[in-house]
Amino acid sequence: MICLSSTASSIDGVLADIAGHSRWIDAVELRIDLLEIWDSDGLRLFPQAVLEETGRDLPLIGTVRRSSDGGRSTASDGERLQILRTAVEAGFHYIDLEADLPPDATRSLEAACLTRGTRIIWSLHDIFGMPEGLTDLLDTLPRTPDGIAKIAVTPNSTEDLLRLLEASDRCSVRERIVVGMGPFGTVTRVAPERFGSFLSFCSVPGSSAAPGHLTPQVLAQTYRLRDQRAGWPLFAVVGNPVAHSRSPAYHNGRFLASGTHALYVPILVDSVPALFTLADRLPLLGISVTIPHKQEVIKHVAHLSPEVAATGAANTLVRAPDGWRGLNTDVLGFLAPLEELVESLEGIRALVLGAGGASRGIVFGLARAGAIVSVHNRTTARATTLCDELSSLPDAFSHPPVTVTAAELQNADQRMDVIINTTSLGMNGNGDPAPWLSFHGSEIVYDIVYTPPQTPFIMRAAEAGCRVITGDRMFDAQAAAQFELYSALATGTADG
Ligand code: ATR
Repeated sequence: MICLSSTASSIDGVLADIAGHSRWIDAVELRIDLLEIWDSDGLRLFPQAVLEETGRDLPLIGTVRRSSDGGRSTASDGERLQILRTAVEAGFHYIDLEADLPPDATRSLEAACLTRGTRIIWSLHDIFGMPEGLTDLLDTLPRTPDGIAKIAVTPNSTEDLLRLLEASDRCSVRERIVVGMGPFGTVTRVAPERFGSFLSFCSVPGSSAAPGHLTPQVLAQTYRLRDQRAGWPLFAVVGNPVAHSRSPAYHNGRFLASGTHALYVPILVDSVPALFTLADRLPLLGISVTIPHKQEVIKHVAHLSPEVAATGAANTLVRAPDGWRGLNTDVLGFLAPLEELVESLEGIRALVLGAGGASRGIVFGLARAGAIVSVHNRTTARATTLCDELSSLPDAFSHPPVTVTAAELQNADQRMDVIINTTSLGMNGNGDPAPWLSFHGSEIVYDIVYTPPQTPFIMRAAEAGCRVITGDRMFDAQAAAQFELYSALATGTADG
């Protein structure tokens, strides 16, 4: 269930949020502590107002979150329980009660809930970290026979996320909500079924009732929360940061379009060893690896593709019976749009700007295809090292890549056929990796930066009459190559 938790400060504002997102939501949490303008009558009329607004009898949760738990309520426990009693009498389906409240204080409200058929969500919050003994805590949270357990804690590392998953797997409480707040907990929100949670809280765009909330539309459309089942094959993009990644939208969109029951999630990873333990426990069948882990993951991989062995970086891991296979679809993804424009790369003259991790795969791919590659970098020594290392690979290239300076390029007689930017310059629309380089109009100019696709470098090349390839083409091509692998695993057609 997708549960909207509005941050509006009035009941009218909450109703407007519900109306604006009703097609994406299955339940509503009324955060009474966030209301600045309200009265008991407004609370009593709320269920009817929701019914009129949406035409649906949406399950309603009444919550008065304490400030110590990340809410705004500074009322006494007695006052909060009184407000919740009004919610019960108004016909709310659930109320949220902190499990640390003294039993004597909650007894009469528990009885009222029993009479009215309101279910109690017994909750525990930690807005800073993770309490010890999570499994036992989960098991002992519900104090009433049909009570629901909810923990909302804050994993501060991938290791913490792993502990949360283990606690959820070991606990015996059947009806539960397990939330990891903040960026390390995103997977609990987008894959609630895997944590045994029957709902995921979210907020409208531009607001967040708790750290890490996504929007109802993203949960419904990108993560297919209404279709999700606990046993769906799982895939992930891992990186630090990872929230900006376009990969979940891409892969989930393609799983949906192909009718495949599989889910692709983003996971913030600060420890590669913890990632591999997590990958076994979830389990993950395939992993897209992004900055800064492309090199380190190799230590955990049983089989390296030739591209990975040559470049020292893997952007794709797929599970095989005897361990992980590491691949690098960046190489193929880079070449695919280029091969659409040139018949053969054999003998073409290519200039690669930059000598970092991305450059290495591109120089390798071009040289292996027979191109004559020159590498220019701000720090020339780095370009020389890259060329020397690639040239010393066992499968020697017909044209080993060489380093070139700006002066050599400006005085060169021969024109380049292809010029590629692999530096980060141009990202966010700023910078040109080679302002001193003029285009003749005959070159193909390729920029691997895709945020935005129209970089200053690409725009300058297009103005000079060059054919251009933008970075989003490479993103799509490398993602398409990954999807072939993931799709085969998800549908059980992978070969070994
Ligand atoms: P990636 O893995 O994305 O390639 P990287 O390994 O940090 O990232 O490499 C970044 C590349 O962009 C390098 O070639 C870098 O040049 P240096 O080796 O001289 O650092 C290049 N780069 C980054 N900022 C630059 C700038 N302001 N001007 C020129 N080149 C720049």
